Amino acid sequence: MKHYLVTGGAGFIGANFVKYLLKKHEDIQLIVLDDLTYAGNLGTIKEELKDARFVFIKGNIVDHQVVAKIFEKYPIDYVVNFAAESHVDRSIENPQLFLQTNILGTQNLLDIAKKYWTTGKDENGYPVYRKSVKYLQVSTDEVYGSLGETGYFTEKTPLDPRSPYSASKTGADLIVSAYSETYNLPVNITRCSNNYGPYHFPEKLIPLIIKNILEGEKLPVYGDGSNVRDWLYVEDHCKAIDLVILNGKIGEVYNIGGHNEKKNIDIVKLTIATIRRLMEENPDYKKTLKKKGNDISWINNDLITFVKDRLGHDHRYAIDPAKITNELGWYPETKFEDGIVKTIRWYLENQHWIEEVTSGEYQRYYEQMYGNR
Ligand code: NAD
Ligand code: TYD
Repeated sequence: MKHYLVTGGAGFIGANFVKYLLKKHEDIQLIVLDDLTYAGNLGTIKEELKDARFVFIKGNIVDHQVVAKIFEKYPIDYVVNFAAESHVDRSIENPQLFLQTNILGTQNLLDIAKKYWTTGKDENGYPVYRKSVKYLQVSTDEVYGSLGETGYFTEKTPLDPRSPYSASKTGADLIVSAYSETYNLPVNITRCSNNYGPYHFPEKLIPLIIKNILEGEKLPVYGDGSNVRDWLYVEDHCKAIDLVILNGKIGEVYNIGGHNEKKNIDIVKLTIATIRRLMEENPDYKKTLKKKGNDISWINNDLITFVKDRLGHDHRYAIDPAKITNELGWYPETKFEDGIVKTIRWYLENQHWIEEVTSGEYQRYYEQMYGNR
């Protein structure tokens, strides 16, 4: 039986991954370590908490004692590090926390994994590790910087981060590579594009737009809305990570992208149109609107408001996922038109989740950021 340590498993992608893994593999033990920051929520994994194969530990990845205790107690085979401060706008406001969690947290996990996985030394002094162990760092395409109108990020694209968030994720990637080179620690790094799907915290573009429509609020689009992101359905991402853990070549980086570039303004317009269509098809969904009544003609593009651009806003991200397709047979299965409908339906049917995750600290942050827009 394999033991996984999944950090950040109460956040968006981590929770989707935990759900995927428990369905996919019968005989596993999952230990989730999550500090339950504003972005982590136990309600997201409440079904999994009842599963005998699942253990939840509240704690910080930067904390040596907490992480060491986990390795002491469980024979961890795989570490999958999702835990991070993940929002670019917050990184612009408070870079230090990003460096602490994203860089020092990663180094702490690597160090403890190295210690507990070491069984001896080879003739050159390199550590020898237990068989079939692996550390997987979940990274981002943002480490490659920003593209112009053409071209794609490959694994060979030079690292050129531009925001405090992407700089911190790059720092983490570099320390992972350093442990691979210096100590032969078995690692993989995956770099994915923008995920979307259920349990996405509503400070990120797609869930924010859905939430604001349900609340009858304006939809803030930064700058002129021409920035491009490459959207990846979260379950497709989870499949890719599972494959990389089991079959990825040690020491390699894998890019994971959706083959699905869209301008922000088009994402917002499509989300507006899809919500309206789903409500017309199923009038029950109208009950989720704060503004009650049958007339939903106000759900239209007039809700869009162009606001001050993000500082240093990266223009375009686009991933070439040829390596993971060729080596591991992965490709993004979910078409955006289907993924966005699944996502919106999920939010319409789980409004209590939005209320739960936005009832505390997030609310204050949001008012501070957008209150005067
Ligand atoms: P998220 O913000 O939704 O979740 C992060 C989780 O980590 C939360 O549950 C939070 O409580 C936990 N956490 C934060 N700091 C912690 C700490 N110090 N110790 C323990 N737990 C801590 O993030 P997400 O969108 O699920 O992203 C997961 C990973 O994927 C991140 O590493 C992120 O950089 C990367 N990524 C995300 C995207 C995306 O589109 N969401 C794209 C590329 C890469
Ligand atoms: P976001 O979801 O924050 O992800 P990232 O910055 O990591 O790509 O933002 C996606 C895009 O949407 C990005 O170009 C910024 C833009 N954006 C808006 O236009 N309005 C918003 O309210 C937010 C949160 C993002």
